[in-house]
This record gives sequence, C-alpha cells and structure tokens, in this order.
Amino acid sequence: MRFIPAFLACLSLATATILENGQARLNPYPGQAVKIPNIADNDPTWKTYPPDAHQISYKGRWCSKYISWWSSPGINFRYAGDDVAITFGEHTSNGVLLAWRISGQPWNFANVTAGDTYQFINKDTPGQKTAVDGQQNTFEFRVTNWALGVQLKRVHVTKGTRIYGIPEFHRKIEMIGDSLTAGYTATYEGISSFAWGLCEGLGNVEFTFTAYSGICLTDKLCWGNPRGQLYQWLQTSDTGFRAQQIYGTNPEPWPFNKHQKADIVVINLGTNDSNQGTETGRVPDAEFQANYIKLIASIHEKYPRAQVIAMQIWQGFYSYGNTHLQNLDGYQAGILAAVDSFKKKDGGNFVHYFNTTGILQHNDINPLWHPTDTGHIKVAAHLMQFIKLKFNWELGNTGKEVYSHTTYWNDLPDY
Ligand SMILES: *[C@@H]1O[C@H](CO)[C@@H](O)[C@H](O)[C@H]1NC(C)=O
Ligand SMILES: *[C@@H]1O[C@H](CO)[C@@H](O)[C@H](O)[C@H]1NC(C)=O
Ligand SMILES: *[C@@H]1O[C@H](CO)[C@@H](O)[C@H](O)[C@H]1NC(C)=O
Repeated sequence: MRFIPAFLACLSLATATILENGQARLNPYPGQAVKIPNIADNDPTWKTYPPDAHQISYKGRWCSKYISWWSSPGINFRYAGDDVAITFGEHTSNGVLLAWRISGQPWNFANVTAGDTYQFINKDTPGQKTAVDGQQNTFEFRVTNWALGVQLKRVHVTKGTRIYGIPEFHRKIEMIGDSLTAGYTATYEGISSFAWGLCEGLGNVEFTFTAYSGICLTDKLCWGNPRGQLYQWLQTSDTGFRAQQIYGTNPEPWPFNKHQKADIVVINLGTNDSNQGTETGRVPDAEFQANYIKLIASIHEKYPRAQVIAMQIWQGFYSYGNTHLQNLDGYQAGILAAVDSFKKKDGGNFVHYFNTTGILQHNDINPLWHPTDTGHIKVAAHLMQFIKLKFNWELGNTGKEVYSHTTYWNDLPDY
C-alpha cells in the first residue's frame, strides 16, 4: 500500500486510492448519493415500487431474490419528477461502488450499503433539468466490481409521478470471461473493461458479462472458484463467496427461455486454465481444446442463432535483448482447432476466431498481467470494428459517455 496524505484521506468518506501515474486521484468517486431515512411504502412524499415492478429492467444476471451477480449488472427505467431514491436489501455488499447516471450524462459514482436508502437524484442534480426534447430522463446504475453486488429492495420517485419501462435494444451481446473481461485492476473495474468498451461503445445493444476473476473454462477449482465456466455460465450466480453463502453448491440455473437471447457471444477464456498456479496445474492442451468445443456447443444450444467469437487469449510481454516479445503460451492451436472443428462439422460459419496478436504492446499490460485502461480501450476498439465488418453492425453510440474520467489523459490545449 502507498502512503496517502491524511488531508486527502479525509476529503470524503468514499475516498480510496486510484493512482494515476503514481499520484492519488483527488476525487476518485464523485457523485455520491445522499443517504436518507428509509421510506415507508405509504410515505406521503414518495411513490414506491417493489423490485418486481415491470417497469424496472434488469441488465446482466440477477437471481429470483433480486441480487446482482457477475460483472457490471445493473438496472434502468425512465422517470418523471425530480427525485429518485433506491433502497438496497440485506444481501448488498458493504460499500459496494455503483456507477450511475441520468440519460447520456457522465457516469457518477456512489458507494451503497445493505439496508440503506439513497437519494441519487433531486432537482439540482446535473442533467435533471436539461432534456432538450421533452423526453423523460433515464436512471441507470451498474455495479462496478464482479465479486460484489446489490440486492434491489425498493425504487422511489416523487409522489404523483411514476416510472416507465425502457424497451430492450433489439440486439444483445454476451461476454463469457474471467478477470480480463471483468476489468480486474482497471480503474473502475467492470466499467473500464474492454467488454464495457465494446458493448456500451456500440451504444444500442443489450449486454451481459458472465465474467469472474480467476475462473477457468475447464470445470475445475481455479483460484478459489469451485467450478469452471463450462458449468457456471449456465447458472444465474457466479463462483464467488457471496453466491456460495446464499446458494451453496445449488445455484439457480439461468432461465435462458425467459430472457432475450444473445446475437453475439464473445469468449475470452483460458488464461487461468493455462496458469501453472491453478490448484491442480495447467490444463493440458488437448483437454482444453475439447472443453472449448463443449462450451461453444453449449452456447449454440442455448442461442442457436448466435455468432460466437473466440478471442485468442494474450499473455504478457517479456524483455528480449533490446526489445519486448509476447509470451505465446495461450492455447493458440487449441482455440484455432476448436473454431475449425465447427467449420467442418456444421458447414455453418457461426464461430469466428478473433486474433488479438499485435493489438496490445508491452506497456498496455500492467504489472499484474492485466490490460491498463488504454489496453482495454484498444481491445474494445478492435472488437467493435471486427463486429462491424463481419456482421454489419453499426457503431450506434453517437454521444453517450462510455469510459468515465478518461479526460485526465490529455484534455488541455497545452502540450
Ligand atoms: C467506495 O468504493 C470504492 C471502490 O470499490 C472503495 O475503494 C471505497 O473504499 C468505497 N468507499 C466506501 C466509503 O465504502
Ligand atoms: C487467474 O486468477 C488469479 C486469481 O484471481 C489471478 O491472480 C491471475 O492473474 C489470473 N490470471 C488472469 C490473467 O486471469
Ligand atoms: C495472428 O496475428 C499474428 C500477427 O499478425 C500473425 O502472426 C498470426 O499468424 C495470426 N494468427 C492466425 C491464426 O491467423
């Protein structure tokens, strides 16, 4: 841990360190919601909705107890009036960080805790009064950390006003991955990840990130995760401690038939399988390849019309003589052979290989072997273009903020 000057540490309750070039970011989580007394259902100033209100859309995977799982889950709805408050249930992680916003405004950050009610929006919240087209505002939040989550208990808006549902976008992407997809060590984790950059960056797609740090493709214990994605992506909850406490070894199967089907599924798995540090050693190449084929078959069964993109995993760089080289120990042959096996078998071309070699350079990978924020943005940008060229999808985000707080890189006229 680095030394944080005491005057910084007491700036705000939510101050924890984000380092940028070795300096502590002054206000890393701006936009904290105001904690208010809990609101009774018949309160004269608030109109209250239960978590099963049909106007509330759940994004990503949530279980029947309205608890969020995996990376970057969230909710959205439209609202009239000036006030929005949310009450969080007992299964909310202490101090979990949410990114939230009004419509296409910049993302704000709020730490929330179990059992408490927070007012996110009042009449003075930036963006609340500036809709130019007479449209109602949208309220949205996303959980930033894959291992933590919230339980939605109540939604409250100004008495005499109401909330409205937002129709789903016509298309959906699911990203199945590990810590790389979940944004481990990226500034705002899930919402700084390449998964976010791709899906939020496309702007007009629904998305789910079934990604969890340390998880393997192979169904085995990896870095404390009892099961691999071959099993776990079929479940509602992830492999974390929260899920083990609530569901033990019997997670709720994900009710695929009740949800919008994915049109594209992106797989980025194998990094932890290949890691000598997994509890039982590196998964052999042939076994990994067989499991990769099983995963694609399982995706095809659940989403028969989906295009599957198999991302070549990347390893770190090492210095070699007077330059750097990339470690090429990432099941290249196995992933390629898995992709090819579908070409031969099905005649269909629904499986595509995404070659990541040459996208990241040595300084795009941080000392913990994960992409820097810049690295994530590069991977996202290349994936977007791949999807546009291959499937003719449009780049549909024409203005909403995607990556929060990236202007510090260079938003000044001087150089
Ligand atoms: C807010 O969330 C951030 C990111 O998880 C964390 O570092 C910080 O300690 C949290 N603050 C509080 C007061 O819980
Ligand atoms: C695999 O998981 C462990 C534990 O989360 C982590 O330390 C390691 O860096 C992971 N490898 C990657 C890059 O996913
Ligand atoms: C991936 O890209 C690298 C760099 O362009 C190239 O050397 C390699 O042959 C490519 N792999 C495949 C399977 O196309």
